[in-house]
Amino acid sequence: MGAWVSFTTGWVVRAGALAALVLAAGAALAQPATVPPGEAANAAAANARIAVWDIPDVDLLPDDAYGQLVRYGRSVLEATARHIGPDAADPAMRFAGNNLACVNCHLNAGRKKFGLPLVSASADYPAYSTRTGKVATLEDRLDNCMMRSMNGRPMPRDALPMQALVAYLRVLSSALPKDARIEGAGAGAVPELDRPADPQRGARVYAQNCQFCHRSGGEGLRRNPVDANFGYGVPPLWGPDSFNDGAGMNRLITIANFVHDNMPNGTDWLMPVLSAEEAWDVAAYVVSQPRPSRPAFAADFPDLLAKPVDTPYGPYADGFPPSQHKYGPFAPIRAEIARLKATLGNVPNPEAR
Ligand code: HEC
Ligand code: HEC
Repeated sequence: MGAWVSFTTGWVVRAGALAALVLAAGAALAQPATVPPGEAANAAAANARIAVWDIPDVDLLPDDAYGQLVRYGRSVLEATARHIGPDAADPAMRFAGNNLACVNCHLNAGRKKFGLPLVSASADYPAYSTRTGKVATLEDRLDNCMMRSMNGRPMPRDALPMQALVAYLRVLSSALPKDARIEGAGAGAVPELDRPADPQRGARVYAQNCQFCHRSGGEGLRRNPVDANFGYGVPPLWGPDSFNDGAGMNRLITIANFVHDNMPNGTDWLMPVLSAEEAWDVAAYVVSQPRPSRPAFAADFPDLLAKPVDTPYGPYADGFPPSQHKYGPFAPIRAEIARLKATLGNVPNPEAR
């Protein structure tokens, strides 16, 4: 067995044996989006989602150059500030603009269901990106988190931290078939509200459920008050050292689901603490707070009809105000975009170069 023992469950599952498990475990752990068992066979054949992840234990890789690169990659993911943060020892390695760690969002080193897992990331790319209108490689996608979630700059393809992160991500996906889809991808899909999410109500949810850890100013808690390289025991949710306004976490649907399925920290999607309504409102409170901003993001999405409905910055092709894109409700926006797609096909973004 050596290096390929799955450490989370102890199950060793090879690609060939997956189909049956997908059905069994998929039915048992069904989220609302999962198909009922009767229809599962067809759906699984066309669109199988892997429910039980076979993730090699990185610590059991040999102590050779490759094993070391992969473990260095995991360290960059976990101790991001130390390796590539704004105060990193080597100035040439200061790619990130804040002291967050990748694992503050990609929980459990990228291995948590609905905790923005990275388990299929290397199988997902290259893929067409509606944000740029071009094919994105895994490195391009990673750089998106560097420029937005980490409020920093892209990493050269031959920079050691980039190569190490990619090596780690490839190991996470190494037991999955090419183009595999996993169950538990992203952050979930809690039911949406038919009213705008409300920052004022969210402030009360925050005071009761979040403030103890993330602090009243959203600034979080550094592990070491004088040395930023230790990163955060509790990461900031807004302010100068947080993700910027172009980050996925700054979109209401992403953060509401992430918070519902993962917060207070330690929460699992199978046993959420917050109601859906509380999650939407507290997410609204967080995104209503100040954070770093970059005007360049207006050029995202060359086709405005491909822009996610909850993108909090314009331009937009529909007639809805920025506040509705930020706080919802989103169903009317989706309906209008579908109508525009049917009549116009696409709407070029005037800000795109
Ligand atoms: C028990 C302490 C604790 C509580 C309570 C808590 N969090 Fe967190 N939160 C954390 C920690 C720790 C992380 C980083 C997890 C990691 O690195 O593994 C985190 C991560 C996050 C992140 C992603 C990282 C970032 O910087 O944006 C968001 C968003 C978030 N929490 C929102 C909330 C909200 C909203 C609440 C209240 C509903 C909440 N948290 C309650 C400790 C907590
Ligand atoms: C503030 C939160 C946050 C931080 C910090 C963050 N990310 Fe992300 N990341 C996201 C979100 C949100 C997505 C989109 C997830 C989705 O669409 O399912 C994402 C997506 C990704 C993806 C694509 C995954 C896929 O399968 O499509 C990769 C790769 C990635 N991040 C790598 C990183 C790396 C490496 C770091 C650290 C250098 C990092 N991220 C830091 C929030 C974050």
